[in-house]
Amino acid sequence: MKYPALLLLILLASCTRKNMEELGPEAHLTTPFEIEPPHYFPVLDIPANNPLTEEGIELGRRLYYDPILSTNGPLAGRSCSSCHDQVTSFSVPTEGTAVLPHVNLAWSQNFLWTGKVNGGLEDVMRFEVNEFFQVDVSVLQAHAVYPGLFERAFGDATITNEAVAKALAQWFRRLVSTDSKFDRYLQHTEMLTDQELSGMMIYLSETGDCFHCHGIPLLTDNAFHNIGLDASFTGADQGRFLITGNPTDLGAFKAPTLRNIALTAPYMHDGRFATLEEVVEHYNSGVNPSPSLDPIMTKPGQITQLLLGPQQKADLVAFLETFTDDAFITDPELGSPF
Ligand code: HEC
Ligand code: HEC
Repeated sequence: MKYPALLLLILLASCTRKNMEELGPEAHLTTPFEIEPPHYFPVLDIPANNPLTEEGIELGRRLYYDPILSTNGPLAGRSCSSCHDQVTSFSVPTEGTAVLPHVNLAWSQNFLWTGKVNGGLEDVMRFEVNEFFQVDVSVLQAHAVYPGLFERAFGDATITNEAVAKALAQWFRRLVSTDSKFDRYLQHTEMLTDQELSGMMIYLSETGDCFHCHGIPLLTDNAFHNIGLDASFTGADQGRFLITGNPTDLGAFKAPTLRNIALTAPYMHDGRFATLEEVVEHYNSGVNPSPSLDPIMTKPGQITQLLLGPQQKADLVAFLETFTDDAFITDPELGSPF
């Protein structure tokens, strides 16, 4: 009887040692971090070579808020947070190309308005680090605390572009918004008003048809569409066509998430609409036909108008406002660590 028990012990001991070796010498020093989205969220894919840890997230957060990241680069003096501010769902109002918010991007596969970067968060962070900020890691390496923070997070005090991108990717996975009024409605902990419910029916039915591209729960289908903002396209308005060269992509842009949409005016890739009322009026009466117009934008009888009445338009806007997550924009753990 004693013999099998002993064998089991030896087996167990060798297994644990083997796992530790695979994970690397410092693996035992990091603290795993779990993201627990509501049951109606899709499964979260986290790459095996960049597991979420408290140390990694904390480092990514610091890098995001620290202008040191842009030193010697084209955006010298800027931090990520200077254009991506928590109070407006990690965006800021700008002239020109609208700043996309940083919310629930852990579930995204296409990044930037034209989908210039495909893949996962590590891929888009590589773009941000290498091309957009052109991060000079020697500045981080010479810093008093960063080498120690990279050592804690990744078991290596040598700072590489790849490690910077990985830390930022971990921080982005932490930027999860799941506590809007609409989420609480889905979780049966809060009721919507009659007006919001009426807006929801418009949104989720063919009447408004919003759900096709801004479906629950992410409020984006992660795809590209020409929604008829223009009838012909030049310059940046050519959208995804600039990446693919495919005429059916003319004027198509990434469908942005509508989470916290009431906070992120002005709207559309070029910020052409100042209010949600103007956006709704676009879908209601302003859609311009063109050969690449998304077929979803054309209703039976070839019409491109929704024909909503004033009350319906107000109800729809009231429903869009239930996507605001106050906890997300005030959570001190998502704010600046400085
Ligand atoms: C000068 C302002 C500015 C700064 C600084 C800035 N961004 Fe952005 N960010 C933007 C704009 C504008 C867009 C949309 C650009 C586009 O799609 O062409 C954007 C888009 C993004 C996106 C794509 C989001 C999506 O939904 O596809 C990511 C990811 C991102 N930024 C990360 C970062 C990171 C990381 C940093 C810091 C290293 C940073 N940004 C710094 C202005 C900025
Ligand atoms: C065919 C897909 C599609 C449908 C249907 C659709 N949208 Fe959109 N929506 C998009 C795309 C794509 C954009 C970005 C377009 C751009 O900037 O050029 C967008 C942008 C928006 C924006 C601005 C987002 C921002 O961050 O600037 C709002 C608000 C919005 N849609 C609400 C709605 C509502 C409300 C409905 C229903 C009445 C609706 N959408 C129907 C694809 C769609």
